[in-house]
Amino acid sequence: MINGPNLNLLGSREPNVYGMDDLKSIENRLTKKAADLNFELGCFQTNAEHEMIEKIHDAKKNNVCFILINPGAYTHTSISVRDALLSVSIPFYEIHLSNTFSREEFRHKSYFSDIASGCIIGLGSHGYELGLIAAIKKIQQS
Ligand code: DQA
Repeated sequence: MINGPNLNLLGSREPNVYGMDDLKSIENRLTKKAADLNFELGCFQTNAEHEMIEKIHDAKKNNVCFILINPGAYTHTSISVRDALLSVSIPFYEIHLSNTFSREEFRHKSYFSDIASGCIIGLGSHGYELGLIAAIKKIQQS
């Protein structure tokens, strides 16, 4: 699971938009849920675009079979993160806590949605859990 810029501030950052859950508790919950289902989940958050790109490259080297990613504001700006995901061709779900379509117009454009295996938008932190379960189902079916 990769989270982008400012998501380290979940819990205190605009809680009316992003909810009260902090990133650590989301990560802990998901890691445990994955382990209960005999899967390993690695969690990574960065405020730097190049670190996100390098993490995606590393995912290929480490035989990661699925990525859950909330690219934060890079969703709306980053062709280079998009290219990184295309380069490694690891299937991924794009996750957003908030409903980006009900917000400012610049958040309506995503550089990821058309190449994602699926998108979960606007369901708050629960979206990460749904993404994990869906990813595990997909891996088991393939
Ligand atoms: C976000 C939505 C983005 O527009 C914003 O820049 C974020 C969080 C979300 O999870 O709702 O940082 O990705």
